[in-house]
Amino acid sequence: MKDIGIGLLGFGTVGAGVVEGLQKNADLIADRLGVRLVLRKIADLDVESDRGVAVDSSILTKDAESVIADDSVDIVIELIGGTGIAKKLVLSALEAGKPVVTANKALLAKHGAEIFGLAVKTNTEIRFGASVGGGIPIIRALREGLIGNHIESICGILNGTCNYILTEMETEGLSFDEALNMAQEAGYAEADPALDIDGFDTAHKAVILASLAYGFNVPMGSVHVEGVRGLSAWDIKRAVDLGYRIKLLAVIRKVGDGVEVRVHPTLVPLGHVLASVAGVFNAVMVHGDMTEDTLHYGRGAGKKPTASTVIGDVADLARTIGTKARIGFLPVGGVGDGPVIRDISEIESKYYLRMLLSDQSGALGKITSVLGDAGVGIASVHQDEGGCDGQVPVVLVTHSAVEKDLDVALAKIESMDIVKGVPVRLRIDG
Ligand code: HSE
Repeated sequence: MKDIGIGLLGFGTVGAGVVEGLQKNADLIADRLGVRLVLRKIADLDVESDRGVAVDSSILTKDAESVIADDSVDIVIELIGGTGIAKKLVLSALEAGKPVVTANKALLAKHGAEIFGLAVKTNTEIRFGASVGGGIPIIRALREGLIGNHIESICGILNGTCNYILTEMETEGLSFDEALNMAQEAGYAEADPALDIDGFDTAHKAVILASLAYGFNVPMGSVHVEGVRGLSAWDIKRAVDLGYRIKLLAVIRKVGDGVEVRVHPTLVPLGHVLASVAGVFNAVMVHGDMTEDTLHYGRGAGKKPTASTVIGDVADLARTIGTKARIGFLPVGGVGDGPVIRDISEIESKYYLRMLLSDQSGALGKITSVLGDAGVGIASVHQDEGGCDGQVPVVLVTHSAVEKDLDVALAKIESMDIVKGVPVRLRIDG
């Protein structure tokens, strides 16, 4: 049986999972592929620490370029992360004509045009299944199974860390920091967890999905991004009382000639399938013009699920090495311009608004008339009895409104004496 040499760049959590999977399921994979995947080299700055997998020390090196240059390495796996050295190494491998597998969503979201451009120029494959959704083969679904569809929308929970935090805050009453610590200990969070909790990791994944769905490079700067950092346990609980669950959603939606690509905490009706996605699980709902809704669900982060998708990409490449077969996947990005990315101010949504009002007669009426003047209709108003220091929290749920109209109203509301602090605005979808 032919051997296919693998070079691994980055021996962190997912890297160790890939090594474990390649060892544990070596015979199974070889039987299925007809070729054997052989780990020839691993590069990492730390070649000492125990990762819980047995590796011959002779294959460990600190010199990543030497792995790419090694003649016995047929496929390069990049699991270093970040956009610095990882970018240089991915470009170097593609220049050398070595197929690349990466899970690096930040790299592809920021430098996809250059990287995919080089892959086309050098006629070298790059696979990135694990960049979105961890163990969920959503990239493969978009590139293969759904290729015959116009994609009308993609709506997804794409960050395991944030979903884990939101679930733990709601169900276990944990504080934000406690839940984040647990996500970090479980190995779900990015090296810099700000990427998770401020929404950028989700935005990187949204950029990749939107670029695939619409065939052009979506610039990161065009995506509206809000994370979960500022969310309060009060709003999370209040949303449930009102029949919603707060999720950090990526919303990609074709509207007219434009596409919305946005990431923000969203109130999802409790009966909606995305509301039941808990913990580290991710789910992506894709609406195609042929399929209508399809749901893709699984563990969105973690060592073994992510490694499974990496190994899937490696296996796919290994099948075609030495043959002239090419899979002919849907390309990422395209030539020329794509649809316009709509600004967040143009979207239409229902909203959850929460504000602290002076507990005095007529206060609520002043708020509702400002909203009415701006063309924002109110669906329901919720005010608890009590309050403290003469202030009372009030929640208003609006009918569908244009975001820029709401912006006008909220700017006025924020400047009113009867309003304390900055009103909370959360979008409702689903
Ligand atoms: N930090 C990411 C998450 C890892 O929590 O989803 C998987 O991309």
